[in-house]
Amino acid sequence: MEKCFIVANWKSNKTESEAKEWLAQMSNVKAQISNVDNKEVIVCPPFTLLPLVSVFVKEHELPIRLGAQDISPLSEGAYTGEVNGKQIKEFAQYVLIGHSERREHFNEDETLLEKKVARAKESGLMPLFCVQGEETPIPAGIDIVAYEPFSAIGTGNPDTPQNANDVARRIRERHRVTAVLYGGSVTEKNVSEFMRMPQIRGVLVGGASLDPSTFVEILKHA
Ligand code: PGA
Repeated sequence: MEKCFIVANWKSNKTESEAKEWLAQMSNVKAQISNVDNKEVIVCPPFTLLPLVSVFVKEHELPIRLGAQDISPLSEGAYTGEVNGKQIKEFAQYVLIGHSERREHFNEDETLLEKKVARAKESGLMPLFCVQGEETPIPAGIDIVAYEPFSAIGTGNPDTPQNANDVARRIRERHRVTAVLYGGSVTEKNVSEFMRMPQIRGVLVGGASLDPSTFVEILKHA
């Protein structure tokens, strides 16, 4: 059976104590969430929390992998405020690139995103490349794409599973990607409908990943 991906994107949320609380609740239900053989659970905290989450996950042997929410388009050096791939790789295996919030609020364009993808690959990080539709360009060498229609993000108004499946199929026909995930208002109530779709290999969850009990329900229903 092909591997699926359940990705939690915390965005710009959680302090240290809130992250500890989330992790503590996850470790309480470790047995339940460990029973998901073919599913990779990836948590993308803000940079400030990557070390904390990484240490906790190792110490408690939680079945969780880590992702960063962004990456510098440059290598290490005199680039104030940037976090580079080598630094991220100490804690994470994945990195989100091309999220619509970064495209919208930080004017990230295709040229910049290609640089970010190149830096991620150089550093041994797997990009989770977000597209807003089948027309969104995808840089060469991307394996995992998350289809996240703009109108579905944070609105409580998800795409229909059937349309998401059709878009995922067309993305796979057009590009040599191995997996397409769906993201945008995924909840514990609708996750199984998306996961049931043959072209959809996982979900990217924003708001509903912040509450640990809701996220556990999502894992159970995925
Ligand atoms: P949402 O966000 O689940 O809150 O809609 C998804 C995302 O932006 O990755």
